[in-house]
Amino acid sequence: MINTPFTLPCGVTLGNRIAKAALTERQAKANHLPNKRHFDLYDHWAKNGAGMMLSGNILVDKRYLESTGNVVVEDKTDITPFKKWAEGVLNHGNHFWAQLSHAGRQATLFSTRKPVSASDVKLNKMGLFGKPKALSESGIEDVIKRFIHGAVFCKKAGFSGIQFHAAHGYLISQFLSPKTNKREDKWGGSIDNRARLLFTIVEKARKKLGTNFPISVKLNSADFMKGGYDQNDAKIVIKGLEERGLDLVEISGGTYEQTALFGYGLKESTQRREAYFIDFAKEMKTEYKIPLMVTGGFRSLDFCNEVLTNEELDIIGFGRPFLIKEDFPSGFINGSDSIIPDPYFEVLDKNNPDNAEAGFYDLQIKNLAKGKGLNHEYSGLRLATHIGISEMKQGLKNWIFG
Ligand SMILES: Cc1cc2nc3c(=O)[nH]c(=O)nc-3n(C[C@H](O)[C@H](O)[C@H](O)COP(=O)(O)O)c2cc1C
Repeated sequence: MINTPFTLPCGVTLGNRIAKAALTERQAKANHLPNKRHFDLYDHWAKNGAGMMLSGNILVDKRYLESTGNVVVEDKTDITPFKKWAEGVLNHGNHFWAQLSHAGRQATLFSTRKPVSASDVKLNKMGLFGKPKALSESGIEDVIKRFIHGAVFCKKAGFSGIQFHAAHGYLISQFLSPKTNKREDKWGGSIDNRARLLFTIVEKARKKLGTNFPISVKLNSADFMKGGYDQNDAKIVIKGLEERGLDLVEISGGTYEQTALFGYGLKESTQRREAYFIDFAKEMKTEYKIPLMVTGGFRSLDFCNEVLTNEELDIIGFGRPFLIKEDFPSGFINGSDSIIPDPYFEVLDKNNPDNAEAGFYDLQIKNLAKGKGLNHEYSGLRLATHIGISEMKQGLKNWIFG
């Protein structure tokens, strides 16, 4: 099953059911452009046969970054390196879609002390985030313009599809969640209002990109926080996306406060089971026709084939497996590999295990991008401090050279 092609509503066919999920590269210099490290990294991944690959999040506003090393697309951005990046992957026969995002209140202090969001609800995590300012009406219009410009730019650069990042607590997800969206205007309140930003972006993008270009959204099944965006909200959003002719919804979950995307904070029964969001996807599959990609926790070929055969989803997204096995997913495709084992790494700060996790996987991306191969032997101290130190260093360089 995993090797069968899949045709999207726009008419485009993906070669198999394996997608490389977005993995932020954090490799850009102060100019925020893709560079040799991006080209080499994706050349490595593309060779191994995923039907579709997503870029790491490309930010649409340089002022509010998820990482100081983010690639950014703005009005005056040079398209040349983006063309090279896209062409490199397409030459291997894979699809390559650009994931567009705005960090909102999850922009760290290394990028801004004054982030923006739906409302002024601060993110309290390790003292890394400033209190956000609620976007004005014209600020929201500017955000929409930036997403649409980013989508048109990436299509022009040669990417074969687009994904809007509406999950994991970034700006669009901040609008979707009643915990971070306290607005009383047309952008807040009911889920229809909270989803207005996402729906407007998708509608405008479809008009600009045409009917035969893949458009996708990464969406949380829930934030997994009391009083937050829940599965009932997600169902309404998915229905709205289907009505707007979206090609693919990628289901994930969680935010920086509750990192369900990595499996943390979920019910023990869910955590133990492979694939964190499969039950929700299964339910959506019975209610809607929109194609579903599900990402998070898939590790065995048998299970992947089973859920595909049962039509519980259409595409399987993999993130960390690309950083656990150097040639993933070629073994899944030719049947020589059936399990991706979770690696062991030391966690010093037991209250923030996701920090060591982020450090561990970011180091793997950097190793692959430098052509060094994976290295799973790092001390707990290195993992705990890696992201903070590299963000600080790049933040300083951005300030000097940007
Ligand atoms: C190092 C790293 C970077 C990530 N960057 C992004 C990103 O840029 N955009 C995104 O939507 N998800 C991002 N994710 C989440 C993955 O796409 C995926 O949802 C998550 O890792 C769960 O899937 P897995 O169990 O197959 O790893 C990232 C995950 C990791 C480990």
